[in-house]
Amino acid sequence: MQTIQAMVNPRLLTKANRLFTGTLEGRIIEVLQNARRAGATKVEITNQGGYITVRDNGDGIDDFSRLLDLGGSGWEETLESSEDPAGVGLFCLAPRQVTIRSNGKRTMISGDGWTGAPVDIRDDPEPVQGTLLRFQDEEWTSAVVDRNAVFCGMDVTVDGKPCPKMPFISDQASSQPELGCRIEVRESQDLNAWHNSCKRGSYHSDNVLVNFHGQVVAFDCHPVSEHQSRSAATA
Ligand SMILES: Nc1ncnc2c1ncn2[C@@H]1O[C@H](COP(=O)(O)OP(=O)(O)O)[C@@H](O)[C@H]1O
Ligand SMILES: [Mg+2]
Repeated sequence: MQTIQAMVNPRLLTKANRLFTGTLEGRIIEVLQNARRAGATKVEITNQGGYITVRDNGDGIDDFSRLLDLGGSGWEETLESSEDPAGVGLFCLAPRQVTIRSNGKRTMISGDGWTGAPVDIRDDPEPVQGTLLRFQDEEWTSAVVDRNAVFCGMDVTVDGKPCPKMPFISDQASSQPELGCRIEVRESQDLNAWHNSCKRGSYHSDNVLVNFHGQVVAFDCHPVSEHQSRSAATA
């Protein structure tokens, strides 16, 4: 009998610079997620001359090789088990030239550095606290950053202006230890404008919002109604 088996072809690495669809929002989400995973409480985003600088006050990068480890991560074990990181997020910045500074070291990833060529790690003559990323991009406007930062739990600024920050759910939420989350049921008119901004537009009703460690996912859930189940039973 012949069997087949899932495997990873090393050619995947040569395509790593094309893994992401390349949306601005996607890049913002990935970069904020990394800062939060590093334990940052503050993230400063600045736009200057076509370059974006993102500076967080997290734990910094111990092992720079993790940056380009496709499918591998360098987070704490507790985070590994709670979030199951995919280890691909930073590749959303490919094929850009990205400068990364942390823990007294600095590197610049560009071109074929994203697809397997060796990338130098150097001492940083002006070490920074936390982690600093710098790369070329369209403007990271408050309008786009705000809706991705509002429920992330960190103090995020864009060009010095604080993004909104608020709790996703209230004290009324019930704790569900077996599910590992808290749940709150609200009338739709009691959602605020930021909750509504997480919904996917007019086509979907999106009556469920899930805050997964700072990133909100919206979807429709319509359990079978009494009317439907009765008609199913009589069908
Ligand atoms: N802001 C940051 N602070 C500290 N470490 C970081 C930061 N961004 C990235 N890293 C390191 O780079 C690795 C790769 O990041 P990424 O490709 O986004 O994958 P993932 O977040 O799924 O692990 C992380 O696992 C982490 O070790
Ligand atoms: Mg990540």
